[in-house]
Amino acid sequence: MKIYKELDYDAVSKRAAALVAAQIKEKNDSILGLATGSSPVGMYKELVDMYNAGEISFKNIRTVNLDEYAGLADDDVNSYHYFMNQHLFSKVDIDPANTHLPNGIAADPEAECASYEDLIQSLGGADLQILGLGENGHIGFNEPGTPFTEVTHLVDLTESTIRANSRLFEKIEDVPRQAYSMGIKTIMSAKRILLIVTGTAKADALAKVLTGPVTETVPGSVLQTHPDVTVICDEAAASQL
Ligand code: GLP
Repeated sequence: MKIYKELDYDAVSKRAAALVAAQIKEKNDSILGLATGSSPVGMYKELVDMYNAGEISFKNIRTVNLDEYAGLADDDVNSYHYFMNQHLFSKVDIDPANTHLPNGIAADPEAECASYEDLIQSLGGADLQILGLGENGHIGFNEPGTPFTEVTHLVDLTESTIRANSRLFEKIEDVPRQAYSMGIKTIMSAKRILLIVTGTAKADALAKVLTGPVTETVPGSVLQTHPDVTVICDEAAASQL
């Protein structure tokens, strides 16, 4: 595991974007596993800047996102579809047909999970999976206690995740109670993983993920067993290491 400790969010974003750009340059038809949330926003901005400067192209890139809220349509401002369009897809030359997220309003959730998992496996898994970290150690929406053997599934969100994510909604009642998420096994099938963690609120979780026991109680701790993980964090998030 490689750990980069950067000064602040800006430096984290630059380092993360450089790593993703290197992946794109090395293999221009890479499968990128993407994450939403505040952690990767700066990185997406850097990647858009690199695209505008002619340094990288997303023409042949295919993407699979980690998760999506259940009950939110693609055009809902709080959906992860909307987030990805806003921060990346609409700003680069990616073919929309090559971008994939779970369908939040699927009529049959079980079938949706199975077909999303099939899609990821048919692509051969992600070449590079980007991850953020929840304050309770979750990755994707895999909450504490999720078996490491789980593939794409429908999750009942914990109160702490609903509270943490409510900052992006008008009111807490608007936060969906369920979400589709790649499972831990899906995430671990990626060839390389990039974990981005910033801010003091994540310090405790990051210390447990990196130095605690590998346990389903701390979903991110499974990353200790992956052969190719890069962690990019700021000093605040690293304060308990
Ligand atoms: C959310 C998302 C995760 C994200 C994490 C951290 O609940 N499901 O995919 O990585 O929590 O979010 P943030 O980066 O906004 O702190």
